[in-house]
Amino acid sequence: MATTQPKPRDSWGSKLGFVMAAAGSAVGLGNIWKFPYTAGESGGGAFVLIYLFFVVFIGFSVMLTEFAIGRHTQKSAVGAFKSTDRRWTFVGLISLVSGLLIMGFYPVVGGWSIAYVYKIATGLIDAPATAGDTFTSFISNPIEPIIWMTMYLLLNILIVIKGISGGIEKAGKILMPTLFIILIIVSVKGLSLPGSGAGLGFLFTPDFSKVDSNVVLAALGQAFFSLSLATGCMVTYGSYLKKKESLVQTTGMVIAMDSGVALLAGIAMFPAMFALGVEPAAGPGLVFVVIPQLFAQMGGTIGFGLALLFFIGLSVAALTSSVSLLEVAVSYLIDEKGLTRMKAVVVSSLTMVVMCVFASLSLGGIGPTLFDTGVFDIFDLLTDKIFLSVCGMFICIFAGWRMNKEDLRNEITNYGKVPFRFFELWYTLVKYVIPFAIALVAFMGVKAGFDSGKGEIMALGVAFIGLTAFVSKKL
Ligand code: PFF
Repeated sequence: MATTQPKPRDSWGSKLGFVMAAAGSAVGLGNIWKFPYTAGESGGGAFVLIYLFFVVFIGFSVMLTEFAIGRHTQKSAVGAFKSTDRRWTFVGLISLVSGLLIMGFYPVVGGWSIAYVYKIATGLIDAPATAGDTFTSFISNPIEPIIWMTMYLLLNILIVIKGISGGIEKAGKILMPTLFIILIIVSVKGLSLPGSGAGLGFLFTPDFSKVDSNVVLAALGQAFFSLSLATGCMVTYGSYLKKKESLVQTTGMVIAMDSGVALLAGIAMFPAMFALGVEPAAGPGLVFVVIPQLFAQMGGTIGFGLALLFFIGLSVAALTSSVSLLEVAVSYLIDEKGLTRMKAVVVSSLTMVVMCVFASLSLGGIGPTLFDTGVFDIFDLLTDKIFLSVCGMFICIFAGWRMNKEDLRNEITNYGKVPFRFFELWYTLVKYVIPFAIALVAFMGVKAGFDSGKGEIMALGVAFIGLTAFVSKKL
């Protein structure tokens, strides 16, 4: 049942707290785990350039739109759309589903990350040559990663139970700067190794002959994933933001921090990989294989200490992101279904545990598959390649064609108090350009997906979105 009475909404304690929490949501495994291996698999420089282009032109606009929708409606993901026009409820629902699917695998990787804190502490970097095998046998083990994933989810639950300004904000404020410093140290170390220059070249010299529709769609998906867009997260966070804060400035800061950390992670990884002779296309194990090897090279207590700090930082970055995803589900259940915070946390985390168990088992070849694809890859593929970008497209269409332009202008400029010179440009992008661009990239990507055997799942994702749109209209 929808709650109709206005109730005081928890809000961010300070502006810095909000920026840190939103950046905390954005900066996570997407930057440090996913960005390097996706760049590696997608050919390097050209991918990075396209990714940055999408971040600036699409990511910025969509994030600003999400903040504006959230703050204008004072509602979380689903309610924000539903309260404006019930026919648009599906956009909120799809973002909720996207968030849930991400939470179906994200804690698995978060669990790997805390496991690596323990593994490093207990001597992993003493045998660097076996880092690759250690990782492969670890993630395909049916029990061990599930135990770590459960611990990781428990940490999330603890933070979310404490509520907005208490838990999330405090965690973000302390832990984000720590991570940044660790990454800088790792980069300096990587760059000092002989042969590291080729890694920088790979990352920053675009070779457009390596670009196809797959690469473009991967860059778009990476931009959405990394910026926590189209999952209801930024809409929900925006709804907690005080009316006097500047949405444009906040968006700019979050985008800058997120891209900064992704690039820094690339600089931390690629030079070291080239120096150590690790394949750029090594896949999801990249960070777990390269970092222990890199620090083993340094040797001694410093190498050990830095490796430990790195995985602590990675775990923290992952936590501030997954907490935001859990918060989306929790605030949906509180706002729309009238559950208490405690009950909402229990229901959402139990759902996530079940999904994550299947996802984790699938990496060891156990459990159901669809078109020869395991659960982990299905969740990743559906969100990264379809749901996020298509949902982002609908968010823009909603803002551009369904919302009132003057309401948006007032929300973004705080009723004229905060000037935004590029309002008309932003509006044109959101209303016309971005929906068309995303539709094109998604269409080409699904088409190309059929050649790589993943088109069926992507097409199913598109069908699901269509069905949700159709069914929710009838509700
Ligand atoms: N942006 C996060 C990362 O880069 O790790 C992942 C994420 C968090 C995606 C929250 C979506 C979201 F709503």
